[in-house]
Amino acid sequence: MTGMIAPSILSADFKCLEKQLRGLEDAGIKKIHIDVMDGVFVPNLSIGFPVISAIRSCSDMEFDVHFMIENPERFIKNAVLAGANSITIHQEACRHLQRTIQEIKENRCHAGVALNPATSLETLRYVLQDVDQILLMTVNPGFGGQKFISGMMQKIRECKRFLQAAGCSALIGVDGGITMENAAECIQYGATILVAGSSIFQGNIQENIKQFQKIVG
Ligand code: DX5
Ligand code: ZN
Repeated sequence: MTGMIAPSILSADFKCLEKQLRGLEDAGIKKIHIDVMDGVFVPNLSIGFPVISAIRSCSDMEFDVHFMIENPERFIKNAVLAGANSITIHQEACRHLQRTIQEIKENRCHAGVALNPATSLETLRYVLQDVDQILLMTVNPGFGGQKFISGMMQKIRECKRFLQAAGCSALIGVDGGITMENAAECIQYGATILVAGSSIFQGNIQENIKQFQKIVG
């Protein structure tokens, strides 16, 4: 079983973010997930570029920025300048998906595309060769702490088959409601990046990471 945990800092304690990030690094975390929301695509606001720049100056971890914003092409440069290593945009929020993916890559970032629970995998068929990561939303985006939508397990499996059939090596990430109880199954079904917010930051962070790492290998 090989997967990777990418903590979503949406659930971090912002009063001591630097300390929490150091704690993640000490526990062996290589990649964090940063949720950027616009209050339009999703009914919430979250972290913006000044915060990303600030934490870039005190962390060497990979920054995977999840854009939950309409017309994400407007903000690619901002994310790159703030220190993003990869940018994931939503298929549903993007009119010229292929162009936007190209733009991300021209900025030397990895490009990801996220799909809401109700969006078909088929919508990605003609961009598969350009994408580094597919992020399957396993909750409706906008908030941490929601429950994993059980039907999404099947979608992970179908995504794996879809990519194999297309000869595509993009990674599969899952985001929302990931816990120690469902992590192993997500990996078995084909996910390799597990984004987890509340199940990492609630309680003892170091201990949670240790337990997750035992499960995902
Ligand atoms: C939800 C965000 C997630 C969120 C996950 O819209 O995209 O990254 O932080 O939080 P948990 O793991 O608590 O569901
Ligand atoms: Zn996210």
